[in-house]
Formats: sequence, structure tokens, C-alpha cells
Amino acid sequence: MKIQGQAALVTGGASGLGEATARELARLGAKVAVLDRNAELAEQVAKDIGGIACACDITDTESVSAALDRAAAAHGPARILMNVAGVGGAKRIVAKDGSPAPLEDFTRVVNINLVGAYNMSRLFAARCAKLDPAEGGERGVILFTASVAAFDGQVGQQAYSASKAGLAGMTLPMARDLAQHGIRVCTIAPGLFATPLLKELPEPVQQALAASIPFPPRLGAPSEFAELACHIVTNGHLNGETIRLDGALRMSPR
Ligand SMILES: NC(=O)c1ccc[n+]([C@@H]2O[C@H](COP(=O)([O-])OP(=O)(O)OC[C@H]3O[C@@H](n4cnc5c(N)ncnc54)[C@H](O)[C@@H]3O)[C@@H](O)[C@H]2O)c1
Repeated sequence: MKIQGQAALVTGGASGLGEATARELARLGAKVAVLDRNAELAEQVAKDIGGIACACDITDTESVSAALDRAAAAHGPARILMNVAGVGGAKRIVAKDGSPAPLEDFTRVVNINLVGAYNMSRLFAARCAKLDPAEGGERGVILFTASVAAFDGQVGQQAYSASKAGLAGMTLPMARDLAQHGIRVCTIAPGLFATPLLKELPEPVQQALAASIPFPPRLGAPSEFAELACHIVTNGHLNGETIRLDGALRMSPR
């Protein structure tokens, strides 16, 4: 699908990998709506790229529907959905004092990363399925952002890994569901990227993380994620697949 002139939605577009994706889409000529629960940062990015900001919480159906309405009113119906919003978090299932991990900590991460992305996608897909097909019979493209933790989660990462493995797991069935509507679905599983999250770590820790990557031994640049995200949109034969983007990194247990 051509990106030029297309209306696109980027969740988590206010920061990190989502921000880089919003910028790359805009550079390639898309009309970009930045969907993020951080309204202030979303506004800054949107202003910078000539897009619009839609403050929303991806786990809240009313909030997502209002954001989709606002984006459609400004740019017309969207054909591209980049699900990048997500949260981290690690907790051992049995704490050092022997107490079980609080269940809310697990459900919160899964609710944002997995249920939120599904919520966004179902509401987007229902609208997209009603559009006229574009070239090649395509109506739209959905991208999910998993993590290498979907496959090699570290100590304490049960909630995060489960949420990201859930995204990888639903990629094929969603692609199969939406094939009849001409909507493709793909997932990127990033390794270690230089986003605000990792940049806050002390420099020696960042260097150690970078050195753990076989090649290139450096953190991924958000622009490299954004390039792949946009390639997935333009390559009409990519569908139902999860692509690792990690410099051959395999995470160690801790
Ligand atoms: N940075 C990495 O190395 C890395 C590696 C693997 C996977 N990921 C994944 O990539 C995605 C982006 O990560 P990042 O490093 O850019 O993080 P980030 O914290 O810089 O950006 C995440 C954005 O998502 C938004 N967000 C969070 N919950 C939301 C909600 N409920 N509704 C709407 N917006 C919400 C935040 O406000 C924030 O702007 C996440 O899903 C993360 O799990 C990142």
C-alpha cells in the first residue's frame, strides 16, 4: 500500500518507537494522527510533523472511538494502524519475602499491551473493512509491536512476555480473519532500542546492553524500527508474520 497521502494512526506516537514511526510516516507523505495517553507530548510531536494529536487510552473503547472520529474528521478514514503503545514492568512471581506477586501487576501490563492493542485493532478494522479497496484490493494494514521478550523473556518478565507473545500469537489469526477484507496484519518484535526508556539507564548499563547484541553491537535506532514499520505497509506480500528486529540478540535469563 502506498503511504503517500494515506491517513495513518500511530498509538504511542508521542515517544520512542511510536514517535519515530509517526515522523517517518509523515516524511513519506502520510497524514498522521498521534494517539497517546500523554496529551502534551502527543501535541508536540503532531505539531512538529504537521499531523494531529488525539489523546486517548487504548484500553478504553469510548476514548479510542472518539480518537478515531477525530482523526477521520481531520484526515479522512485511516488505512494504516501502527500499534506501538505499550508499557514495561518486571516482577518475580514469588517475591524475596515469599509473598506472591500482586495479580493487578500482571493484569495491568497484559491489559495495556495486549488487550489495548486488540481493542484498537478491532475498532479500526471494523471501519477499514467498510472502505473501498485501494490498489491491489488492499483496504488497510495493521502493525503490532511485540518484543523479543515474547520468545526469550527474562526473569520477572512474565506479564510483559505474555502480553508480547499474545500479540505475536494473534497476528496470524487476525491476518486470516481480515484477509477477506483486504487488511494485512504484521508484527515487529524489537530487541533493544535507544528510546527514552533505555536512555534513562546509567551509561555503563546501556553499554553492557549494547555489547550483548551480536551485530551491530549497539542499541537499535528508533528510525530503524520506523523504516521496517513503513516497509511492512508498502510490501503487499508481508502478512501474518512476526519479524524480529534485534541484531541477532537472544536475551539471557537475567
Ligand atoms: N525500547 C525498546 O527497546 C523496546 C524493545 C522491545 C519492544 N518495545 C515496545 O515498543 C513499544 C514502544 O516502546 P518505547 O520504548 O518507544 O516506549 P515509550 O515509553 O518511549 O513510548 C510508549 C508510549 O506509549 C504510550 N502509552 C502507554 N500506555 C498507553 C495507553 N494505555 N494508551 C495510549 N498510549 C499509551 C506512552 O504514553 C508512551 O508515549 C512498546 O510497546 C514496547 O513494549 C520497546
